[in-house]
Amino acid sequence: MCGIVGYIGHEQAAPILLDGLERLEYRGYDSAGIAVLSPEQGLQVKKAKGRLKVLKALVDDGKAVEGTLGIGHTRWATHGQPNDVNSHPHLSQDRSVAVVHNGIIENYVEIKEFLMGEGVQFRSETDTEVVAQLLEYHYKQTGDIMQAVYRVLHRIEGAYALGILCADLPDAFIAARKDAPLLLGYGEGCSFIASDVTAIIRHTREVSYMEDGEVAVVRADGIRVYNALGQSVEKEHSFIDWDVSAAEKGGYAHFMFKEIMEQPDAVRKTISPRLRDRRVVFDELKITPEEIRRMQRIVIVACGSSYHVGMVGKYNLERLLRRPVEAMLASEFRYCDPLVDENTLVIVISQSGETLDTMAALRQAKALGARILSIVNVVGSSIARESDEVLYTWAGPEIAVATTKAYSTQLVLLNMLGLYMGDILGSVQPAEYARIVEELQALPAKMEEVLENTERIKYLASRYFNHSSIFFIGRNLDYALGLEGSLKLKEISYIHCEAYAAGELKHGTISLIEDGTLVVALCTYAPLFDKSLSNIVEVKARGADLVALTDDSHKDELRKTVENVLSIPDTHTIFKPSLGVIPLQIFSYYMALQRGCDIDKPRNLAKSVTVE
Ligand code: AGP
Ligand code: GLU
Repeated sequence: MCGIVGYIGHEQAAPILLDGLERLEYRGYDSAGIAVLSPEQGLQVKKAKGRLKVLKALVDDGKAVEGTLGIGHTRWATHGQPNDVNSHPHLSQDRSVAVVHNGIIENYVEIKEFLMGEGVQFRSETDTEVVAQLLEYHYKQTGDIMQAVYRVLHRIEGAYALGILCADLPDAFIAARKDAPLLLGYGEGCSFIASDVTAIIRHTREVSYMEDGEVAVVRADGIRVYNALGQSVEKEHSFIDWDVSAAEKGGYAHFMFKEIMEQPDAVRKTISPRLRDRRVVFDELKITPEEIRRMQRIVIVACGSSYHVGMVGKYNLERLLRRPVEAMLASEFRYCDPLVDENTLVIVISQSGETLDTMAALRQAKALGARILSIVNVVGSSIARESDEVLYTWAGPEIAVATTKAYSTQLVLLNMLGLYMGDILGSVQPAEYARIVEELQALPAKMEEVLENTERIKYLASRYFNHSSIFFIGRNLDYALGLEGSLKLKEISYIHCEAYAAGELKHGTISLIEDGTLVVALCTYAPLFDKSLSNIVEVKARGADLVALTDDSHKDELRKTVENVLSIPDTHTIFKPSLGVIPLQIFSYYMALQRGCDIDKPRNLAKSVTVE
């Protein structure tokens, strides 16, 4: 969601900004723009609705805009339509200030009315423009841009990552953040700001993360950071050791497919540092066994696919721990006056570590005294930094909007956590522990096996891609798996699909089943195989077309009832969703491919959702 990049140095800024924005494209956007400052040309702003290539053409790949200092933005509209005028950067009335913004200024109406009363004319419908106009207003009053910035930050409410260029400041730009991601990059004779590290990793690997309330003055020879009171702060520098090629397609047509194929490796990397002598070890956890024993309840909080991992976790952790486990959507948790206290472990799951709803839920749970353990992919992200404990998934950069490898690594890590805690609580017996560890070790190879057999799935996609409505049904872990399968399919193929607990079908949904309705029946959860089979027979009797997924032990039996049967290798029950999700991801991918959809950047969606 929205990308910000800023550069100051000795090279031409525009091509560097455009390249940075290109690398942030995966976050999702609807328009793009840059502002560049040069002594000769002054403050130049170029922006355009649509893909980055429109902007690139407008500025001749950056050659048409001169200057060694600039800020760039990809917008994901919240206030005002995606069009040229609403695109960022936004200029103040006298063109002295240009602003890029990620987030929402919640009190923008009130500020806009005030400024209009002062004679300011607004050009756009955005909330962001008030920041540029208010900056100019205070700059005129104080004659000091830093004072003006602080006055604006005191006045605005909501969430923001801001990049600010001032025409009178030829050798610096300013950045500020509250509840939206922004990092600082330190190069050789140049400096950067960016929404995430992919934008600048080709130029520098040395970064620091801005905290809420901080303001940075970015110069070519260094960056000074100040806290909300204007006092100078020393920032800790981190070194990013990602392989640059991990964020490139490497011969695949789409990032999504590449990331699907990377899953065994990502899962292996997530498991292996935490498995020693057939024991799960979490060196990074500070929580003691006594504290774990004290936790009466577990609440898992997340959004989207990460929430679906939480749903699998609800079933698996409750089974392993014999303690109540609840999975909640972060956006619901925030506003339901949640029942959590110091005896609750809140597990927060997030790939990006920047999802605003999840972040807000985390803060609320923390304020209520709960212990926060987060499962996060992006190192140093906001959620990771604000949690009491962090377990990182080692999926590497995930670029496609539809998550695949991050989901799989979250799932395996949550299961490992369940095993670890179950051992401490004595609810997992040694023989069961050993059996689970054995399956855990075998999991990456079994995932590889699933990935080797995709032809049948491809064929099924070519047969069903024209359907306009699809149902996923399953019980227990298969229900949780269906939620993810259905989300994956709808987000990239735009086909309407829904997941239902198979036993719930007869309470309403079955009225929607008619001749030719496609039902994807998930039957990997062996204890309820027979029950699921009955549900299959029910929908078949009403004319449904069926694609069914089960494990190798049950496939022959299922073939007696269903023509299209896919299967996964047998494994321990808790790992069934880890294998089961792969055919569903591949099915979604080929369905979307057949329908000619923009697979890596589906319409209306963003990779990291940093607005409420
Ligand atoms: C999944 O394919 C989605 N794009 C989305 O549901 C995602 O899982 C959700 O927005 C949560 O993101 P996070 O894991 O980065 O917090
Ligand atoms: N709220 C701002 C707008 O709609 C910024 C959106 C974004 O984060 O891209 O213009």
